[in-house]
Amino acid sequence: NNHTYCTIVLFGATGDLAKRKLFPSIYNLYRKGLLSEHFAVVGVARREWSNEVFRQNVSASIKEANITAEEQDLERFLTHFRYLSLNVTNAASYQDLNALLCNVEEEFTIPGNRIFYMAMAPEFFGTIGSYLKSEGITNTKGWTRLIIEKPFGRDLESAQKLNDEIRHAFEEDEIYRIDHYLGKEMVQNIGVIRFANALFESLWNNRRIANVQITSSESLGVEDRGGYYDTSGALRDMVQNHMLQMVALLAMEPPIRLATEEVRSEKIKALRSLRPMTAEEVDQYFVRGQYGPGIVSGKEVPGYRSEEKVNPNSKTETFVAGKLLIDNHRWAGVPIYIRTGKRMKEKSTEIVVQFKDLPMNLYNKFEEQLHPNLLIIHIQPDEGISIVLNGKRIGASEETIPVKLDYCNNCEDGINTPEAYEKLLYDAIQGDATNFTHWDEVALSWKFVDIISKTWETSSVSFPNYESGSMGPKAADELLEKDGFSWWPVSKSSK
Ligand code: BG6
Repeated sequence: NNHTYCTIVLFGATGDLAKRKLFPSIYNLYRKGLLSEHFAVVGVARREWSNEVFRQNVSASIKEANITAEEQDLERFLTHFRYLSLNVTNAASYQDLNALLCNVEEEFTIPGNRIFYMAMAPEFFGTIGSYLKSEGITNTKGWTRLIIEKPFGRDLESAQKLNDEIRHAFEEDEIYRIDHYLGKEMVQNIGVIRFANALFESLWNNRRIANVQITSSESLGVEDRGGYYDTSGALRDMVQNHMLQMVALLAMEPPIRLATEEVRSEKIKALRSLRPMTAEEVDQYFVRGQYGPGIVSGKEVPGYRSEEKVNPNSKTETFVAGKLLIDNHRWAGVPIYIRTGKRMKEKSTEIVVQFKDLPMNLYNKFEEQLHPNLLIIHIQPDEGISIVLNGKRIGASEETIPVKLDYCNNCEDGINTPEAYEKLLYDAIQGDATNFTHWDEVALSWKFVDIISKTWETSSVSFPNYESGSMGPKAADELLEKDGFSWWPVSKSSK
């Protein structure tokens, strides 16, 4: 069998991420037989919890995730969980941790394989890392791995510092930087769509593609994360990671094999080909927005500046649209438009590839152009692919209408496709780092984004500039109009 015996040491075990995503994911892996009985989860946090309280919380989070759990199965699962209250700056605490780890490793026959999962604010990563090393916790008979969550710094400089800190205790190939978009079913499908279909791969270049549009809109506001978000903003929160990762997957050259290093090096090359903006280009090619009050799904919602823990004069952007250019042979001259924001009309992530027009239009006498062919990759909430072609309008002899071929990726399985975290956690346990971000990708993304944030910091802006429930500021539409394009409506609203 393919089971990997290991212990997951979860820092931040009392936190939100553990509760919403990690416990349900670990349980799902267990339920599907992907974990065997040779695993343990050691929850670590500051709070004084007993094993019992910890297990109750794990159990509650699984039930809240709407996973049907058999009572007996769940109970057996929970016996693998231990809790330790840890003072992150106290060496003795780490000795307790090591003792506990040795203990569970003996109990569940685990050969010293340890995954350290940092599901907490990054300020202590460095401290924890150095104690893990100095107290011998990373020195085991098996392997050790580190999984870390964003935010990975707030610019290149702070990211570099953070990286140096964790590199004291872990090698680059032991570090698994999570970008949960890389665990999404349809993000993983981008490679398959491109490299398993002659139909697309042969057209995937600047001779055939007019533009690419990536939209990731959210209807939620900042919820209870105002404190973090107000120091971050959409550029750092979404563009530096999720959006640029999708750009890299769309733009990269075919890897020679599907091995981690091969895929990564192509992604790195793609990110390296992103044209760095000048301050002038930032003003021309990037649009920032902040939501004011409005109506989302029929409900009145407050503006960003009235959200909890947000500065009432905040200049933080909750929306970004931008035009990226990739300077290489394949992509020269093809704009890649991105936009992402909070409190927009609906929750939707979608990629639209718009193909170039034919040299002339034989049909539709009164229209200059045929409807362009589109390839639409629906990332979420619907998962699927649509292709827009021109067909003959029934009855009319010289008239075409756009027709849409829809492939639904989650219709057959129901919407319960494996959650991103479940897949990524499993990959990390198996030692497959393909769907994690390498340091070079992080650094290149920050380098690109830093120019934009620095330019924005020094220029004035008038916020709020879009209504909650809209598709963002007008300027985001004008960005495409200047090039003779427009955003294709996200599919729900076009249905
Ligand atoms: C996170 C951001 O990385 O991604 C959040 O910090 C954002 O602000 C979230 O809401 C979006 O993820 P998803 O999977 O809901 O699209």
